[in-house]
Amino acid sequence: MYLEGTYGLVVIFNDQTDLLMGARNGSPLVVGVGDGEMFLASDAAAFIGLSRQAIFLEDGELVIIRKNSYRTVNQQNLEIKKEIEEIDIEEKSAGKGDFPHFLLKEIFEQPESITRALGSGGRLIKEYGTAKLGGLNLEKRDFFDINHIRIIGMGTAYYAGMVGASCIESLARIPVTVSDASELKLSNPIITRDTLYLAVSQSGETADTIAAVKEIQNRGGRVLGIVNSVGSTLARMTEGGVYIHAGREVSVASTKVFTAQVTVLFLLALLIGRMRDISLSKGKRLVEEVMTIPEKLRSILMMNEEIKAIAATCTGAESVLFLSRGINHAVALEGALKLKEITYIHAEGFSAGWLKHGPLALVSKGTPCVFIAVEDNTFEKTIGNIQEVKARQGRIILITDSDNPEVHSLADDLIIIPKTDPVLSPILTVVPLQLFSYYIAELLGRDIDRPRNLAKSVTTE
Ligand code: G6P
Repeated sequence: MYLEGTYGLVVIFNDQTDLLMGARNGSPLVVGVGDGEMFLASDAAAFIGLSRQAIFLEDGELVIIRKNSYRTVNQQNLEIKKEIEEIDIEEKSAGKGDFPHFLLKEIFEQPESITRALGSGGRLIKEYGTAKLGGLNLEKRDFFDINHIRIIGMGTAYYAGMVGASCIESLARIPVTVSDASELKLSNPIITRDTLYLAVSQSGETADTIAAVKEIQNRGGRVLGIVNSVGSTLARMTEGGVYIHAGREVSVASTKVFTAQVTVLFLLALLIGRMRDISLSKGKRLVEEVMTIPEKLRSILMMNEEIKAIAATCTGAESVLFLSRGINHAVALEGALKLKEITYIHAEGFSAGWLKHGPLALVSKGTPCVFIAVEDNTFEKTIGNIQEVKARQGRIILITDSDNPEVHSLADDLIIIPKTDPVLSPILTVVPLQLFSYYIAELLGRDIDRPRNLAKSVTTE
């Protein structure tokens, strides 16, 4: 008998309590090797408190487990030797601590998770104003041949990719496109030698992203992974990449992983940028600036009571719009996604320039419109859009780094965030949006960590 399709399978036997069999094809399956006990799970995080020794099965492999032993074979029943790997996941991330939900804990963890994404500074070279990313498996010279970058992902990872695209284009002056992995894999994609493909994923197990990577690799494309989950399928199938080290993210909706993904994409942009377009002094300035981000983030987290009060006035909203421009356009989209995911309130994100092309018709008296306006080259235009919404009596919730009182006076609710370089601003602007959605969901009594109909890791296409 032959089994077709995508599966991660465990077989137990009525009459043999000391026997388990596991098989995978397309879905993850990991064996935990304990002391007189063995585990099978889709993610090593599931048994991390019990064993740190893991064997990662590949597609088409089977494992036969007894209490004290295991045997791995291929589909022809031929024995294959698998290495035991030591898992490096922080165990303390397994509980909620003092927080009522994992989501809130993960939002508050961001100063630390970003510090980890920066390798506590070890991924930065201060004196050369650049970054050091060991796992890329690329020689410096290889970067001369890259004329295009294509980022793929789904959900929040896709939006992190959009932020990364703006950042790379701004610092490295290489054109970047961002693709929905589920669309790319079916699109007969054009794969070129001088394109670098980046697969962004928290779990490293998203079926659409994996399928897209396979399609690119089958056509000879070079794919690197920007992945959180160590040892995951994507991490293993790509030619190199960067672990973001955000730590385990439990809540279905992604928060700390978004900011860590953006941080790592910034590091990549800085690295390529310093080889191409940006000067030593600018590189040094950016290195110094990114090191201040965790502290700036802490100061935003301290505004949680203010954000909660704003959230309390939006629980009855039928729909919320999120608007911004430039690098923060993707943050507006991510803000809307977060609100949909955990509160079930209808939300849409748009570029503020898009407003007049349709969304403005949705604005009536009191419609909450969340604007992100940082003082970059898009600022004046965004302020113009705020005035347009105000003229229709929409309610303005403004997140800004501006200290201009005239700008402040446009807002019904105001959240002032610290200033940073525009390319780093999404790491700060997204945090009030995460808290905003969290508090609305809490007040509405939603199942915050496990929103209806959604999964943390979507392992089917
Ligand atoms: C699901 C999750 C999202 C996540 C997306 C992509 O939709 O609920 O939080 O952003 O998948 O997942 P990945 O693991 O590839 O980042």
